[in-house]
Amino acid sequence: MATGARVVLLGPPGAGKGTQAKLLQEKFAACQISTGDILRKAVAEQTPLGKEAAQYIDRGALVPDDVIVELVAGRLKDKDCAPGFILDGFPRTIPQAESLDRILQRMTLSLNRVLSMQVPRSVIIERLSGRRSCKNCGGLFHVIFSPPAKEGVCDRCGGELYQRQDDEEDTVANRLDVYEKQTAPLANYYRERNLLREIDGVGTVDEIRARVIEALGDLVA
Ligand code: AP5
Repeated sequence: MATGARVVLLGPPGAGKGTQAKLLQEKFAACQISTGDILRKAVAEQTPLGKEAAQYIDRGALVPDDVIVELVAGRLKDKDCAPGFILDGFPRTIPQAESLDRILQRMTLSLNRVLSMQVPRSVIIERLSGRRSCKNCGGLFHVIFSPPAKEGVCDRCGGELYQRQDDEEDTVANRLDVYEKQTAPLANYYRERNLLREIDGVGTVDEIRARVIEALGDLVA
């Protein structure tokens, strides 16, 4: 069996998956695969994928499984994913999880951990309403919890910060409902396979990072 981190981050919108995935990517020299980031880039570039995905993202619904699975299968073959990968926002339905198992089997790989980040709704709303993302590098900020040094400008690359359209109140409510119905059942799927670890997602970014690292402590970079 290959070494390296092959990890899924599971959790509701705003749980901090993207924030922790970026930190883990560095620690484990793994690639971060954020299906949300890939789709938003496609939307911004107005590719055929982006045009299709926008119809779903704008109302907080899930993009069809076959579209997402194909996208992830291709990305997993990239060279930077060979040492390991952090999946952020995928899988999100049971059929996506089953497809991922098949894809990894074909690559003679398997997941070695699934972290489920638990965050109450009130904290989610607080985080999403203040989130700012970099248009250029995808860097994540929060107007109160992790503000950029200069308002509206990314600390890492100087890119422009923007507020995601799907972070508007009505869309967030829909995303949370979709999560409960379609994604939350994945916790059991992975618990039955003895892959699931639950992480308390409330606290500072550093506190949560320490919990995540502890839960992955035995994995070798
Ligand atoms: P996606 O981009 O995956 O969104 P999401 O899962 O809803 O998650 P978010 O990105 O909103 O939150 P996060 O958990 O990453 O939190 P973050 O670290 O940013 O998906 C968007 C859309 O794309 C979906 O609705 C769907 O349409 C489509 N899609 C994507 N994947 C799909 C799939 N597999 N299948 C079908 N459709 C798919 O943190 C949030 C904020 O909080 C930030 O401002 C951050 O700075 C701050 N923060 C983080 N941690 C802390 C902390 N500990 N304390 C204080 N602030 C914190």
